[in-house]
Amino acid sequence: MRGRDLISIADLSANELEAVLSTAARLKRDGYPHTLEGQTLALLFEKPSLRTRVSFDVAMQQLGGHTVYLSQSEVGLGQREPVADVARVLSRYVQGIVARTYAQETLVQLAEHASVPVINALSDDEHPCQALADLLTVRERKGGVRGIRIAFIGDGNNVAASLAQGSALAGAHFAIASPPGYRLREEVMLQVEAFARASGGSFRVVESPQEAAAGADVVYTDVWTSMGQEDAYEQRLSAFAAYQVTPQLMALARPDAIFMHDLPAHRGEETVDEVIEGPQSVVFDQAENRLHAQRAVLLLLLGEGRE
Ligand code: CP
Ligand code: NVA
Repeated sequence: MRGRDLISIADLSANELEAVLSTAARLKRDGYPHTLEGQTLALLFEKPSLRTRVSFDVAMQQLGGHTVYLSQSEVGLGQREPVADVARVLSRYVQGIVARTYAQETLVQLAEHASVPVINALSDDEHPCQALADLLTVRERKGGVRGIRIAFIGDGNNVAASLAQGSALAGAHFAIASPPGYRLREEVMLQVEAFARASGGSFRVVESPQEAAAGADVVYTDVWTSMGQEDAYEQRLSAFAAYQVTPQLMALARPDAIFMHDLPAHRGEETVDEVIEGPQSVVFDQAENRLHAQRAVLLLLLGEGRE
């Protein structure tokens, strides 16, 4: 995978996804090399971040490298300077670019013009690094991903899209319950259906959160109002009112089901304290696994290819 970009989970084959997850698990267990010494990673963020920014920064340092953080107010991606020029300039200084953007298209353009790997640190459409950490967490908790029943409750957003793609690639049974008008994008549904057919997994889109949660091994939710959608906050609150993950909804899942959330959470909206602070919640393991999954991604894309 050396030299490749990671713009979407859908760019990975099932074998590559498995390689990232098994490398992450191995490095978490056995420790990691310092083979990125002398390399620099640019962290280019158009939106705020805690987990993604810090975990990439720490992962790069643990591997012997450095990072440079660049905020949108400094760089003016596409405003002060065309995206293609930013990509070409950064490629002369750094060995990799991690970018969080509004438009997925900005990432596609960065990747097209950069001569170094570009990694999607979340866009309006996808969040592949989150899905890698999530699948690593499922693997740890459930002994694997194949055959596991994953229910996503709520918005068919960036987190849902990447999780659906990754789950289907890895052979899980993925069900998503969203209100009409807030489903996964058509293009993503077609990809996920194809991945599920090839892997022996399955993909279901339903309206009822109860139907999705029934018998699930994993119940996952994310915010109803993502970064950049703040103007639609009230409208979204009412559209998703029936989609809160409550103890009653968790009770429909398997007794050993885990509750997952990528964080930050809006308590009292998509879920409640009783669930997120309860014994089934693995949300801080997910947050920790961002570090382990991204360490593997950095080694596989920027390293010498021996990992
Ligand atoms: N889950 C996640 O990506 O968190 P941040 O927005 O804080 O990076
Ligand atoms: N869907 C959320 C995820 C945050 C990590 C957002 O885009 O704001």
